[in-house]
Amino acid sequence: MKETRALGATFGAEVLDFLISSSASTEEITAIKTLWAEHKLLLFRNQTLDESTLVSFSQVFGALEIHVRTEYLSPDHPEILYVSNIQKNGQKVGILADTEVGWHYDQIYLPRPAVGSLLMAHTLPPEGGNTEFADMTAAYEELPESVKTRLHSAHAVQSYEAFNRAYSVPTNKEQKKKSPDIEHPIVRTHPITGRKALYLCPGMTTEIVGWDPAESREMLDYLFEWSIQPRYVYSHAWQPGDALLWDNACTMHRRDPFDQNHERLMKRTTILPPQELAVPV
Ligand SMILES: [Fe+2]
Repeated sequence: MKETRALGATFGAEVLDFLISSSASTEEITAIKTLWAEHKLLLFRNQTLDESTLVSFSQVFGALEIHVRTEYLSPDHPEILYVSNIQKNGQKVGILADTEVGWHYDQIYLPRPAVGSLLMAHTLPPEGGNTEFADMTAAYEELPESVKTRLHSAHAVQSYEAFNRAYSVPTNKEQKKKSPDIEHPIVRTHPITGRKALYLCPGMTTEIVGWDPAESREMLDYLFEWSIQPRYVYSHAWQPGDALLWDNACTMHRRDPFDQNHERLMKRTTILPPQELAVPV
């Protein structure tokens, strides 16, 4: 087993002796997969990978999603989404430029939501732009039993449009058609560990299906506040060479704003679940 250092109080680990490459051994990949499932968030420091290595390493965890925002994909590798405020010829090369990005699960609004994302720092501002993660397994497990009972078999609406209104730019007509609002269970069983996690987020979850609107609002606000208590949250201050691999079936994340006079470019791959585990349950 590889040596690790804890990041947050309940989750997250820095993997101390691993260089991401296209030629990792089967034993190394198995060890990383085990750590990923166990810790939910893995940090790899001092990485020097290029885009093709980012893609090939990500593919060992599953098929990769081509993001609906095609205008922000790498020109050479469409599996890579750019998150950036950099402009070329008057056009932003990436999504989610420099303002705050609210708490969300990547692609929770899709019928087959991603189970993981790997985010690599390429260009960083001198400060700001921290990414925070919340451990939604611990948040669920420590809920009062009475609340867990009320959430049993409840579903919620996940809306990419709501997120875009608050934090991003609108989708075009075609993209909107590909990402309509969708309903998923509020409590999701992890496809690998079998543990339950809260599957909702302030940025994209708009209502509990079939509940009185006031009761739905009250419960969502309670769960959002509960989930971001300091003991469930890890805040990552990026360093050059950092790569973060997170479990997108049981952690949500957000980003701090940063000074728009500095450039920031992050490169992300998005990992899909196996087809038989496609729909959250
Ligand atoms: Fe994200």
